[in-house]
Amino acid sequence: MKHLIDILDFTTEEIDKLVATASDIIDDPKKYAHACDGMILGTLFYEPSTRTRLSFTSAMMSLGGNVLGFSDAASSSVSKGETVADTIRMVSAYTDIIAMRHPKEGAPIVASGVSRVPIINAGDGGHFHPTQTLADLLTIKRKLGRFDGLTIGLCGDLKYGRTVHSLIAAMSRYEGVKFVLIAPEELKLPDYVKSEFLHSGNYEEIASLEEAIPTLDVLYMTRVQQERFADKAEYERLKDSYILNKAKLSGAKETLSILHPLPRVNEIATDVDDDPRAHYFYQAEFGRYIRMALILYLIEKKGEPTKKAEATLDETLTCTNPHCICTVERGIKPLFKNGNCAYCDQKGEKK
Ligand code: NCD
Repeated sequence: MKHLIDILDFTTEEIDKLVATASDIIDDPKKYAHACDGMILGTLFYEPSTRTRLSFTSAMMSLGGNVLGFSDAASSSVSKGETVADTIRMVSAYTDIIAMRHPKEGAPIVASGVSRVPIINAGDGGHFHPTQTLADLLTIKRKLGRFDGLTIGLCGDLKYGRTVHSLIAAMSRYEGVKFVLIAPEELKLPDYVKSEFLHSGNYEEIASLEEAIPTLDVLYMTRVQQERFADKAEYERLKDSYILNKAKLSGAKETLSILHPLPRVNEIATDVDDDPRAHYFYQAEFGRYIRMALILYLIEKKGEPTKKAEATLDETLTCTNPHCICTVERGIKPLFKNGNCAYCDQKGEKK
């Protein structure tokens, strides 16, 4: 079964195909209006969402399909203690494809192990968010016309910002892409992302947003992820670390693309919104079209396997990440690949 759990489940050719289909949908939506007649998308959102859930719903409806699901786990049997695996066994019998968001990292992997239909990861904890990346890539392609050779600034919460992790994974596969990381010490990129996708030639860390801006082709601002902080005082201290405003854009390129997965809190002042380089609302809009392309593609490719690195049971290691699904739900076998937990990608600890 083909799923989308990690953006690297897709090759760059598959991503190009999705971007091309989404562009065709934008140009001629009528052509696709009945492509999913009689089909059902399940939207299982164990965590709050506006854009992702509604754009998935809108995408399936625009393809002629129907949608069922929940937007609040408290209203489902999860509140009675049901596991992800059991919920998915049921919902995959009622639907043709499932988009799920879960606060625990690796939950969609557990789901994909028991599902009868394709699983789409719509965000798992602070880990990955591949469909946001598809929306980001469509926006970059339509606004800048290319992926190769871009310098991309990522600013804010690079530690818990799952959209950042998936975007770096996707963009690091293109020729000549450079990343400029702008984050407070406490919110720097996790090691599992850094060690896999960054090397001395393709990134730098800069403390000052103003200093970074003139060098950038893309500026990807992010919200400090309040819900992931164990210490609320630390959130309060860090939440306004970086604020983009019109004045700070004075030295920016004319062609800069300013992106943000949204929702924003304070990190982009509203005086930036009418700048022609502010592309974050287009990005949200494009999320609908790329999700239409994704639903079509996964349904078409249902019979094909997802390419996965082999994970093995390693009795000497344990996952100590409290945000990982394998440490909180019963019945999940700990699995590791190259010493990292197969669910959350954090380094396994010796028992
Ligand atoms: C992001 C998310 O949920 O990770 N939002 C989104 O899906 N568009 C970013 C965020 O919540 O800050």
